[in-house]
Amino acid sequence: ARVGVLLSGRGSNFLALAEACRRGEVPAEIVLVVSNRPEAPGLAKAQELGVPTVAIPSKGLAREEHEKHLLAALHQAQVDWVCLAGYMRLLSPQFVAAFPNRILNIHPALLPAFPGLDAQRQAWEYGVKVSGCTVHLVDAGCDSGPIVVQRVVEVRDDDTPETLAARILEQEHIAYPQALRLLLTRRWHIEGRRVVFAREA
Ligand code: GRF
Repeated sequence: ARVGVLLSGRGSNFLALAEACRRGEVPAEIVLVVSNRPEAPGLAKAQELGVPTVAIPSKGLAREEHEKHLLAALHQAQVDWVCLAGYMRLLSPQFVAAFPNRILNIHPALLPAFPGLDAQRQAWEYGVKVSGCTVHLVDAGCDSGPIVVQRVVEVRDDDTPETLAARILEQEHIAYPQALRLLLTRRWHIEGRRVVFAREA
């Protein structure tokens, strides 16, 4: 599969995906990395790996206008799957419809708990004893699409939001390649809001 990654920041999940593809664990190639922030460290990481990159600044642009540029870049690169990896903008229903059930996102909490920003801190403040991460298909809502993979992390008494986030991030780097691999190698469909995988032949 030809994968496009959208990011806005650090890019550690992009790296985890890129390495899993390189090792042959995920039958895909990241053919383009797009950032809406030109200064995102993730863009530089992609360049170091020789992955084609493009910055498409969102600042000052209407969502529709910005997404027009995004879609043009993704289509030009013949992307068939889009992975959001710390991409800090909501996608419009029109964008989502351009890649139906072919957009993935990773969220640093066990959805449907703690959607939105700063999820690790939200979970820590709430006092949950387990949290984790969720890879899900993207629909037009915020952190709301069908779940593909979740991985659990215990919350320790001596955790801070930062130490918890760091242990969740380790699991994110396992979960994201795992989810993409499943979707690309197994037969699956959606029933209601459940992603159902066919039994392995
Ligand atoms: C991750 O915690 C991810 O779950 C969230 O944004 C963060 C991105 O980190 N959506 P990175 O840029 O992949 O390092």
